[in-house]
Amino acid sequence: MENVAVIGTGYVGLVTGVVLSEIGHTVTCIDIDENKVNTLSQGNSPIYEPDLDALLEKNIAENRLHFTTNHSEAFDQAEIIFIAVGTPQSENGSANLVHIEQAARDIAHKVVRDTIVVVKSTVPVGTNDLVQAIIEQELRASVNVQVVSNPEFLREGHAIYDTFHADRIVIGAENERAGDTIQSLFENLEVPVVRTNRRSAEMIKYASNAFLAVKISYINQIANLCEMLGAEVNDVADGMGLDHRIGRSFLNAGLGYGGSCFPKDTAALAYLGCENGISLSIVDAAIHANHQQSQIFLERVLNHFNGDMIGKKIAILGLAFKPDTDDMREAPSLKIIKNLLDSKAQVKVYDPVVHEINDFSHPSIEYTNSVQDCITNADAILLVTEWDEIVNSDWKQLIDYPKSPLILDGRNVLSIKELTNLGWQIEGIGQAAKPVQKKVLPIGQNGI
Ligand code: UDX
Repeated sequence: MENVAVIGTGYVGLVTGVVLSEIGHTVTCIDIDENKVNTLSQGNSPIYEPDLDALLEKNIAENRLHFTTNHSEAFDQAEIIFIAVGTPQSENGSANLVHIEQAARDIAHKVVRDTIVVVKSTVPVGTNDLVQAIIEQELRASVNVQVVSNPEFLREGHAIYDTFHADRIVIGAENERAGDTIQSLFENLEVPVVRTNRRSAEMIKYASNAFLAVKISYINQIANLCEMLGAEVNDVADGMGLDHRIGRSFLNAGLGYGGSCFPKDTAALAYLGCENGISLSIVDAAIHANHQQSQIFLERVLNHFNGDMIGKKIAILGLAFKPDTDDMREAPSLKIIKNLLDSKAQVKVYDPVVHEINDFSHPSIEYTNSVQDCITNADAILLVTEWDEIVNSDWKQLIDYPKSPLILDGRNVLSIKELTNLGWQIEGIGQAAKPVQKKVLPIGQNGI
């Protein structure tokens, strides 16, 4: 069992630290925020993540998990240091590496023993080389430091599960022994390991996230066409997904992707392409289609009111960028609410976990405590995040509460047939009730 330090206690750092302690390693997590360190030391997680609190408490109690603001305290014992700090998006789309560089300098200045540094944060190709160079240039003690790339693939809301049941662990190392040590760190997890050089490991992360983003944008555009032609996108996705070369996951059409990863990582990959003169037009198109998707949904809302939203009461069900998380970063709900408020609608919102939108207060937003409260007197209901609690509401009983029984299902999770039978007027995305009648020209008369 190893002694490990983790720099950064965001989603990735905290989950990494907790899981490593759970599989038997001794872990000290470092964060500059004293309040956060105090909260965590008492076994309370500042983020909402299923199963995290229980593992946090357990491993603190068993003395395998510690939190500190003091780098030296953690580095004195650590044979392995994980860097799990944020790489936010800069204005030009590139990944901002200031926290990574600071972590590299902190390690160089304070490390006192031979150490393997593992970069977990999502970083542009070449960043691990940069971290190695900074550490070598600024190292104060006479010790050996090897940098290894080990990107993280966990999904928020499933972070603990994903770490224990990952599809793969990617380890990119220039020094084989350092790579072996990191591989042995995870051996209790019984997950397939892919060994590559550092740059390939960095690229695997970006290429995977961008591929999934492309998949979502693709099905969203197919959904828009389905709607025009009378096809049902859920059935289309089921039919496509049975082809094992395609797979059903990430073919759920909706309002587009959000969150802390896909928008930022697609932008960073597009930037890397530009910087290196390589066209990544597919990634550019996925980004563009994703911006359009929430816009198309808004137009649908506006059309129901002939463009006049003044004073209309719109109920928003779900705020978080996806279910089972409290994360609001790049959540489609933000764009939808801002646009509705700009067009002078009154907005009522309900989310099982998010009870306030930080940095975004407006007198016309009313926060409610239940689906029923939220939809009471509404002129339209927009289902924005597919929380189980929202999807599994008693729609039969709820029909008495809105002013008009109109639901626009932005996640295609409600059964149009069942809800229509209950008296609701419901529309999904890519699920036209009737095909649009088009004039078909005889062959040869349409320019083909
Ligand atoms: C993602 C990756 O899945 C993960 O491997 C990586 O480490 C971080 O980024 P996360 O952002 O937590 O994880 O969420 P994920 O569950 O992948 O969903 C991302 C976005 O895509 C959400 O906004 C979700 O609503 C959307 N999505 C997902 C769809 O619109 N349709 C789908 O079929 C799947």
